This record gives sequence, structure tokens and C-alpha cells, in this order.
Amino acid sequence: MSKAIENHRVLNQSENEPFSSVLSRRISRRGIMQGGAGLAAMGLLGGFGLAGCSSDSDNHNNNGGSGSGSPEATPLALAFSSIRGSRTNGVVVPEGYVAQVLIPWGTPLDNSVGAWSSDRRVTPEYQAASVGMNHDGMHNFALSEESASREFIMALNNEYIEQSALWAPQGGPTNAEDGARPADEARTEINAHGVTLVKLALGSDGQWSEERGSRYNRRITSATPIELAGPVRGSAYVVTAYSTNGTRTRGTNNNCANGFTPWGTYLTCEENWPEIFIKDSDRYADDDRLGVRKDRSRYGWETAQGGTNGEFARFDATPSAASASGDYRNEPRTFGYVVEVDPYGNTASVSTETAALKRTHIGRFRHEGCWPGKVVEGEPVVFYTGHDSRNEYIYKFVSKAKWDAQDANRPGQDYDRLTIGSKYLDEGTLYVARFNDDGSGDWLPLTPDATTRDGRPLWQALELANERDLAGVLINTCDAADFMGATPMDRPEWGTVDPSSGEVYMTLTNNSKRTAEGTAATYTNGGSDIDELGAGYATAPVNGSNPRPDNEGGQVIRWHEPSPAGTSFEWEVFVFGAAESDADNYSGLTELNQFASPDGLWYDDRGDGRGILWIETDNGYEGVTDYTNDQVLAVVPGSVSRGPGDKAVIDAADQAQLKRFAVGPNGCEVTGIFATPDKTSLFINIQHPGNWPADPDANVQDATVAIPESGSVRARAATVVIRKRDGGEIAV
Ligand code: FEO
Ligand code: CA
Ligand code: CA
Repeated sequence: MSKAIENHRVLNQSENEPFSSVLSRRISRRGIMQGGAGLAAMGLLGGFGLAGCSSDSDNHNNNGGSGSGSPEATPLALAFSSIRGSRTNGVVVPEGYVAQVLIPWGTPLDNSVGAWSSDRRVTPEYQAASVGMNHDGMHNFALSEESASREFIMALNNEYIEQSALWAPQGGPTNAEDGARPADEARTEINAHGVTLVKLALGSDGQWSEERGSRYNRRITSATPIELAGPVRGSAYVVTAYSTNGTRTRGTNNNCANGFTPWGTYLTCEENWPEIFIKDSDRYADDDRLGVRKDRSRYGWETAQGGTNGEFARFDATPSAASASGDYRNEPRTFGYVVEVDPYGNTASVSTETAALKRTHIGRFRHEGCWPGKVVEGEPVVFYTGHDSRNEYIYKFVSKAKWDAQDANRPGQDYDRLTIGSKYLDEGTLYVARFNDDGSGDWLPLTPDATTRDGRPLWQALELANERDLAGVLINTCDAADFMGATPMDRPEWGTVDPSSGEVYMTLTNNSKRTAEGTAATYTNGGSDIDELGAGYATAPVNGSNPRPDNEGGQVIRWHEPSPAGTSFEWEVFVFGAAESDADNYSGLTELNQFASPDGLWYDDRGDGRGILWIETDNGYEGVTDYTNDQVLAVVPGSVSRGPGDKAVIDAADQAQLKRFAVGPNGCEVTGIFATPDKTSLFINIQHPGNWPADPDANVQDATVAIPESGSVRARAATVVIRKRDGGEIAV
């Protein structure tokens, strides 16, 4: 999201060991293991220790590969030339490729509203029936196996709003900073957030377009009724005047990255939602730990007058009644979740008729996204998720139910997928990650009876009423993770999983609050210890997986677990972001692939255990922004390996393998990514462009056209589809 509104301030106040010291120890350990003395240790660690420092074929064989035990196929080769950086108002792609704009903000979804035009005054009704603002995570849902590469339902996150573009015809928002917001402006802004579902189809001319009026088209906004599911549902923690039995809320907000399930549903993740609330007094520890505001909210929605049933009052969580059932003191506790959406729109199991449920067992924090692990018949289903704030944590949810292939998605068929979701997502165990110095890691359970570092049951440390209060642990996920000794990370962003090997990749985008080795951690909210409720790490010294102080470049890490339900793992740094000239350019990047602040990430499985890792950036580090706008890079993991003493898998010898594939227009970040199953269309999102796309009236146009610097358009975030001119497979 825009660096202008994001709040990645440090809210984690724990004193857990920094990751930098972990890395230096890990590197020396790897040196030992290369020499053969580590074989015994390797056996204990399940093989990944060797895999991480050996040849590629060893790597995949040791990790289980496709499960067939057959040797890995020759790695793919990227068949395009890395492009130079760009700082224009257009998208840049390699020679031989084309890029089109698709479903920009404001594209009508049905015929209840008129066409978009650049001078349109957007109303609550118009926005509720058109594509939301600032596209982020997205995923494709097939209507049949046969047609999956030609048509599908797009599920798309609309993370936040650009008020300057939204209110351009009237010269800007009313009372943006002070005074009461007009009710219809607040409603319009609320409706510009959330999720867009829209059917897309490929024409015979090679252009994609939306199908206006499709039965699948709909919006879920920051006002749509949504039910809570899982352990928090029905608990006293989420009783409000709107839902006195604590079972529902209104809206999903700041939907950043996404995920999907093997049973055919979409996961949309609530990230910087605490900023839409205020609470002046009687704050809970979790209000502080997560950063609910005290004065004015991000857009001042709480100041709007009118409405019914607390339409706007709910954004002010300051207690005003005798009990929780009379006010909105608990409204923020109905946010911070992973939300499951049935893109096919079946509502049989959902009384709110919105085909969406907040899955509270996956934890409550500023979720970036939520990604499924390797899916194995008869094993639990696993999801990885990270908390995008400085010095926050990485989590894993493990289902109690074992995967039954009968539950796999049946594209286009009309049946109740959310009941299948309840089977896997409402009962299980949430874990938080500890990255050890020796390259191993542990998943620490966040259950009421888990034993904290200081030997107490977690429920007691959290001051909960009793050992049965799992809802209380989940409401206080961050403080629970502090107590267990999780490792503070450099802002976890996207994750992705190689579905053959089960290896997990995650971006750690940057961290200005990472301090040098030997420094002491400091704590948020005036805390003096990580184990204070409401306190997280303000600053944390370097550690193994986060080894650089004042980390502007960020890094991608990779880990492997012996099985999806395993509670241990082996980790390594895959690549460090940096400018070519930086002293800490540990991956040896050059002009043709230098990048910083990796954010979006996608393992593009091409079969036979082969695939491409795509990396997208959301960069504010001038070492790289002076050279290029945000970008998309590609690397074939099977073509790079880690040598003795290397700080990361990608090093100076691997520069030909990491290639810049696309660059976005000025002012944007590049986010959201998937390809059609036939790999001929790659979809990305251009979020918060400054002056793009060139034709502000058009829904479909050439994304590479750049208006001159002197020109000015009403900017519209949009999806961009990249194809080869000859219609062939992308990148290879
Ligand atoms: Fe919404 Fe962490 O980016
Ligand atoms: Ca704490
Ligand atoms: Ca992001």
C-alpha cells in the first residue's frame, strides 16, 4: 500500500532474540556441514540442512520433490532478456511482450450504474457496483477445467483509497483532516474498500475484458455484513450493539495480500485496519499492541453523522454504554482476520448471504496474506501468514482435519464450499515461528495451555479467565507470540509455496527499526519488556534471518519442514535486496536486477517439480528508486544454489538467473500476481499509480503507453495482463 498511508510503526515490544546473530551462526554451521562433519546433524534436521548447501538436484531430491522419488527435470531457463530500469508513466515489458490495462478502479460490474468517465462524481451506489480502489492481492477461480485459461472469476483485493483521485471532480475530499466527513463521502470511501469479484474472459483478439452483469460479479466492502467463524465467534470479546451474541460484524478492510484454499475459496487478509478505528479511553492491551488510534481515524469515518445502527459510530470504539452490547468498544476485535470468500457465491452455509466468513483461528493481527502449504492426502492442511509491521512475526495454522481429496474444488459447480472451509479452518492449531541461530526453526503453539518462556501456561501469562479461553489467545495473538519467544522479523509480506517440494518462501520487505548487533531491544507503548501486555518490539537487534541493521533492501527467506504438520523447520536467506553499489549487496545484484523491498511473491509451478519464483517490489529506498520504479523479477529456484560461506542462495555468481521482467509506472507499487493455467497470460496489479493509465476513460487499453511528464490524468489502479505477442508461454 502507499507509503503515504501505511503504518508499519513498530508495535511489537518483545525482547526475543534478534535474527542477525542467528544468521552469522548459521553461516558458520553451513561451512561445517559442507565438509561432511554435519552429516549426523543433517539427519536430525530432516535433510534440508544438506539441501540448502548442496546442488539443486540434491535439494529437490532431499526435499521429496514431486513425491515420486524420480530425479528432478532440468531446470527451466528464462527466455527473455532482463530489462533496464524505468521511470516513466507507463508499464515496461520485455521485447516480444504486450501489456494491457484491465478492470481499473471504477469499472462498472453491472448495469445498475452508467459508464465510467474521468469526470465521474462517484457516489456510494456507483462505487458499490463497480471495481474498488487500489488493487492488491488477487486470484483466479475457474468455471471449468476446460475453459480455465480463457475465462474465470477474478477475486481482487481493494486495499485502500486515494482520496485525491476519488474526489478529483470536486477538488478533493471534504474535511479530510478536521471536522465531520459528509455521510455520502464516507459511504463512498467505505464502498471503495474490500473485495471485487468479476468474471473475466479472453477474446479472440488476445485481449481480456470483464463481463459486465455476470452473475458472479459482486462487491464485498467495508460495510458488508460478514459472520465470524472459529473460536472467537460468539465469545464476549466480540459482542457489540450490532451483534449482541458476537457472531457477526460489518465489513472487511485494508485487504492486502490474499490466498486461496484447495477447496476453491479465496482468502482476503486484513492488514492496516487498526487505523480506521479510534478509542479514546478504556483501551484494551490488544488495542495498544495493534495500534488502534486514539484521536482521528485515517479517513475520519467516525465523524460522519446519520445512518442507522451505528453505521459510522462503530468506528469510534470508545465505550459509551453500560456494557459492550450497548456500544462498539469491541468493534476493532471483529477485524484483523483472514476472511474466506466463496467466489462462486454459494451462500447456503452463511446467513449473511455474502458468502464470506472471518476465520478467527488463523490469528488476529495485521495480516499480509495467507498461503496454503503443500497439500497431502491424509495430512493436515497448513496455511502460512505473516504480520506486516516492523519486528513482527510469521505464523502457521495447522488444521485438525486431515485433507480429503474429495474436498478439492470442482470448478464452476454450485455447492457449499464454506462448510468445507469450516471443517479445515475452524479447528486446529496456530503456531508462531522462532528462527534459531543454527539454521533450524521451531513452530511455537499459541494454545491456552502452551508453556511460555518463563514457564507459565499461556492463558495465565495473558491474564485470561481460564485454560479454555482459546478466543482470548487469538484476540491477543501478538502478545501470545511475544510470551512464546517468537523471532521478530523485517516486516513479513507475501509468502508462497513450491507445491512439489513444500518449500516456503516469504518476503521480509525492509526494517528501519532493525538495530546493530549487541544493541538492546526497545519496546512500544512505553513498555520495558516484551512480556508486558500491549507492548511489542519497537526496535530489535539483528538476528540470523534479519541480519542487516536499518535494512532498506529487504530479503526473501526460504524454509522447509519435514511434513506439513511438523513443528520444526530449516531456513536460509534466498536473496537480499540491495542497490548495486551498496556495501551490503550480499546477493551481488547488478544494474539489471537490483531491487529493494520485495513484497509480492509467487511460485509459478510449471510441472515436473519445475517452476519460477516471481518477486514484486514496493520500494521506497532511494538507492533503487533513483534508478527504477517498482518492478517484477523472475528467477528459477532450481537454477541457483548456495555455496559454502554464501550469505544467501543467490550470490554474485547467479546474476544471469535473476531477471527483471517488468517495471511499473511512476508512483506505483506492483502487487498481486498469477497466471492462467496454460501460462500464456500473466496478471499483475498496478497500485497507486501517480499518472496512469494514459487514457483515463478507458477500461481496456495498452498499459505501456506513457503520457508525457507534463500531462495529467485521474489516476486509476488497475490490473495489467502481460502476454507474448505470439501467444506463447510467459517467461520461457
Ligand atoms: Fe499492504 Fe504489507 O502491504
Ligand atoms: Ca507483549
Ligand atoms: Ca503488500
